[in-house]
Amino acid sequence: MNSFLDQLHPYPFEKLNALISDINPPDDLANISLALGEPKHRAPDFLIEQFADIDAISKGFGTYPPTKGIPELREAIASFVSRRNNLNRAIDPDTEAIPVNGTREALFAIAQTAVNSSSDQIALMPNPFYQIYEGAAILAGSTPRFVPCTESNGFNPDFSDVSDEEWQRCSLVYICTPGNPSGAVMSIADLQALIKKSDEFDFVIASDECYSEIYASSPPPGLLEAASSMGRDDYKNCITFNSLSKRSNLPGLRSGYACGDAAVLERFLLYRTYHGSAMAVQNQWVSAIAWQDEAHVGSNRKLYTEKYEVFMDILKDVWPMKRPEASFYLWPKTPIADDEFAKKLIAYANVKVLPGRYLSREVDGTNPGVGRVRLALVAEVDECAEAANRIKAIWHKLQ
Ligand SMILES: Cc1ncc(COP(=O)(O)O)c(C=O)c1O
Repeated sequence: MNSFLDQLHPYPFEKLNALISDINPPDDLANISLALGEPKHRAPDFLIEQFADIDAISKGFGTYPPTKGIPELREAIASFVSRRNNLNRAIDPDTEAIPVNGTREALFAIAQTAVNSSSDQIALMPNPFYQIYEGAAILAGSTPRFVPCTESNGFNPDFSDVSDEEWQRCSLVYICTPGNPSGAVMSIADLQALIKKSDEFDFVIASDECYSEIYASSPPPGLLEAASSMGRDDYKNCITFNSLSKRSNLPGLRSGYACGDAAVLERFLLYRTYHGSAMAVQNQWVSAIAWQDEAHVGSNRKLYTEKYEVFMDILKDVWPMKRPEASFYLWPKTPIADDEFAKKLIAYANVKVLPGRYLSREVDGTNPGVGRVRLALVAEVDECAEAANRIKAIWHKLQ
C-alpha cells in the first residue's frame, strides 16, 4: 500500500462530527449549518435548462470527452480570465486554458505535475488552509511547509521566515486568494513579490481563486493580473484555478479551469490524460455558457451582501464582526476555546460552526486557527438570520 496515505489527516468535517457526536441539541430547533462551504443558492435556471435538450445531451453521453476540453469551453474560459484580470495579452485558449472537474481535483493534480519526487522537495501552503493542498503535496512525494496567515499580516501568508534553503527545495507554492477561511485578499504587490521569488527559485505558483467573484466592493486581483501588470506576458510559473461552484452556484456540476503558463499546462495535460480526468462534454457546453454570463454572478453577489448585513447586524452588540474583502466566510475570534464554543453552539442553539483549529496545523507550538471559528454564510437569508438570533440569545452561555 502507498505509505504516504498514512500521513493524511481526517477531513475537518469528520473531526467536527466526532466532536459533537455525543451532544443532544434542543429538540425544538432544527439544525442550521454554517460549517460547510457549500453554496446553497439556487443554481441558475437558464443553465439548468440546457440539460433539457435531449439530443444534445444524448450526443454528449455518446462521446469520450477530450481531456483538453472542447474549443468552445476553452475559448469561454480564456475570454473570462483575460477580461476579469485586465490582461495585456489575452490567454491563448489552445495552450493556456484547461477545463477541470472543479478546482479540488485540479489543485490536487497540479502537485502531481509540479513536484519532482526524486529529490527532497517542499510545497508551501497557507496555514489555515484548504486541506487538499496538504494531501496533494504529500501524495506527490513532497513535504508540506506551512506559511502562517495571522491577523498581524491581514490573514495573508507571511513568507518572510521562509529561508533560501527552503525556497531552493520548493517546487510548488499554493496560495488562496480570496482566502478560505479568512476571505483576505492578497495585494498585487504581494503577488508580484511571490512571482519574483519564483523567478529566482523556479517553482510553480498555484493560485486558488475559487472565491474571486464573491466580493464586497471591488473585484480582487488575481495572480495572472499581477503577472500581466509587471509585464510578464508569458505567465511563467503562474497557474490560476477557479470554478463555477461558488461563482455560479454549481458545485454539483464539477466544472472549473486551470489557466496560465503554457509550459506547465502542457505537463499538466499529460498528467491528466493518464489520470483520466476529462469533463463530460455536456457539462463543458453548459460551462461555456456560464463563463460568458455575468448577470447571474452579480445577483449572487447581492444575495451574499444581504446576508452579511443581516447576520452581522443581529450580532453586532455581542459578537461584532467585519465582513472580509471577499468569500462567503466570517472568521471571528471566540470568547472561549473554539472547539468548546462549537460544542456549546450545538448544545444550546443547534447551530453548526467549524472550529478554526481543524483548518490549520500547529507549527512550532502555534496553531493559527485556535481561538477562531469559520462561519459560512451559505444558507438562505432567513436561515442565516435565525442562526444569528439563536447565537445572540444564548451568547451569555458561550463565555
Ligand atoms: C479554498 C477552496 N478551494 C477549492 C475548493 C473546491 O471547490 P470546487 O472543487 O468546487 O471548485 C473549495 C471548496 O470549498 C475551497 O474552499
